[in-house]
Amino acid sequence: MGLAYDDLERLVGGVSDDIARARDLIENAATAVVLTGAGVSAESGVPTFRDAGGLWKQFRPEDLATPHAFARNPRLVWEWYAWRRTLVAECAPNAAHRALAEWAIRRGTVTIVTQNVDGLHTRAARDAAGSADPSPASPVEVHGSLLRDRCSACDARSEPRPVDATSIATLPRCDRCGGMLRPDVVWFGEMLDEAVLAKADAAAAGADVCLVVGTSALVHPAASLPLHTRAGGGVIVEVNPEETPLTHAAAVSIRGSAADIVPVLTG
Ligand code: APR
Repeated sequence: MGLAYDDLERLVGGVSDDIARARDLIENAATAVVLTGAGVSAESGVPTFRDAGGLWKQFRPEDLATPHAFARNPRLVWEWYAWRRTLVAECAPNAAHRALAEWAIRRGTVTIVTQNVDGLHTRAARDAAGSADPSPASPVEVHGSLLRDRCSACDARSEPRPVDATSIATLPRCDRCGGMLRPDVVWFGEMLDEAVLAKADAAAAGADVCLVVGTSALVHPAASLPLHTRAGGGVIVEVNPEETPLTHAAAVSIRGSAADIVPVLTG
């Protein structure tokens, strides 16, 4: 997608200085961590949560994304997640996902941490790696994944099953214990997986730069990770069309879209 004239003009203005500074910080970083949110997938067609038209503008998280909602009405919750799975299956990684994966594979010292459950970073890692090992670009998914099931009784993880959400009786069951399966995502009020969070924390604390892309930085503990980088002597670079609670803590904060800006910063 070419840049519109206004964008070009803006680029010629102050933004190019910010981009040049951000590129310097990123190029000179021995280690880096990336924190992404729903905004990195917006240009792939995945709705964000809190923007105009975002999921939480259309649906009530308390009805769909809490353990209580699942206990109260698992059929409704599964119907919604089945819809999100179908939507995500029709989307593809965009230029930002691809650039981050290529950067991580090229450098080998970049950790991609994502709040997203859409699996697009994982797909970009596979595409970027080709026949090589994708793990340098495989994301740390702190909020879990839509593309995995988890048993609500014995916690066993499994490949996602087709979901028939017409009635409670048709909802997917665990092969191991017969318990009701749920999507393997972290719901509001639930703890993040300790080992996954520890991995994200260690990467953030030890990084020279934390590149924050497309998050409103409102949901913790993920939103605190960039501050761990800063506390460890590193710097924050932010990419978002809007200001966020992290903007004041960033060495450089660039107003722009992920697919436009990230390839320029990491290429
Ligand atoms: N490029 C970059 N950023 C964008 C783009 C884009 N094309 N479009 C929107 N954004 C920005 C918005 O300005 C906003 O700051 O992405 C952010 C999206 O914010 P949210 O919708 O709040 O999503 P996120 O920060 O990922 O939410 C965190 O909250 O609902 C829970 O578990 C869910 O992981 C999610 C968490």
